[in-house]
Amino acid sequence: MNFDFYKAFRTLSAAFGPSGREHDIAQAITEMIADTVPHIGDWAHHTDAMHNLIYHRPGSGKKVLLAAHMDSIGVVVTHIDDNGFARFAPVGGLMPGDLIDCRVRFANGTRGVISFEEKTAYKDLGLDNLFLDIGANGRAQAEASVQVGDFAVFDGEPFAQGDILCGPYLDNRIGCLTLIAAMAQLEDVPCDLYVAFTAQEEVGLRGAQTAAFAIQPDYAIAVDVTDTGDLPERKYPMAVRLGAGPAVKVMDRSVICDGDVKQALYRAAARADIPVQREIMEFGGTDTGVIQRTAGGVKAGAVSIPTRYVHSPNEMASLSDVARAAALLARAVSEGFEA
Ligand code: CO
Ligand code: ZN
Repeated sequence: MNFDFYKAFRTLSAAFGPSGREHDIAQAITEMIADTVPHIGDWAHHTDAMHNLIYHRPGSGKKVLLAAHMDSIGVVVTHIDDNGFARFAPVGGLMPGDLIDCRVRFANGTRGVISFEEKTAYKDLGLDNLFLDIGANGRAQAEASVQVGDFAVFDGEPFAQGDILCGPYLDNRIGCLTLIAAMAQLEDVPCDLYVAFTAQEEVGLRGAQTAAFAIQPDYAIAVDVTDTGDLPERKYPMAVRLGAGPAVKVMDRSVICDGDVKQALYRAAARADIPVQREIMEFGGTDTGVIQRTAGGVKAGAVSIPTRYVHSPNEMASLSDVARAAALLARAVSEGFEA
């Protein structure tokens, strides 16, 4: 399949999409699917009240759900002072160290820089000690561009270098790309297939909860980024490395993955000659966690893209891991999940 992941990533990362503001990214995904997926007439799609974007290819057999969240982390303006500096709250998991000296952008194109109160010792800085400077001369000028309640995301140009992709929003635009590329590769499938691009994952797996409830699948796989253990002097060992293939999730803080789904992924990987890693992430969770606990329970697993510096403006992943994750999902869905 000729799918240029870097070009596609640039297209999706141009869309503005913090949690709760998924409209633009959903639009970009819809256009990309229309351009990329053959037999698009076999698919129906709709957006639900939570702004999840849900594709459905009706078929006989078990109900299968593939999911990836569309939203990215960001900040929301909580206060603007007399000098025009803004304070903000996190949208999703943010560390002060990842924000200092970073550029952010708002939906209307306004850009700013995050800085910190110099009086506080650097090591003691919390989010409360940071502020956002849009270069305004006083409150009135600031409010002409940015209001309390406006959301911003990291601003930064992505780059590709060899097999490496780097930039903001890899979490989880690369998961969305994985699903789009998997949809493009699918021929006949022995299932009733749903592909959900979910909203508000970063603030508590919220969109996936309603999407999974509406669909009530038999099997589900979520695609998201995961940490790697291949950096110097990491605090906790983790077996996952960049560029060594997609990871089949065993467990994270939100989920212990279903054995049948894991085995189906291992089986598909072996048959398609795709290297896979086994992921245990000791911190954080993913959509899989809420999907598994939907209604009477769903057999759920996850395919993860090894990613360094997750939730920073410079997340880094391997393009070949993304391509292999797409091929793995397409193969697993084609072969089915029954033990
Ligand atoms: Co995230
Ligand atoms: Zn994510």
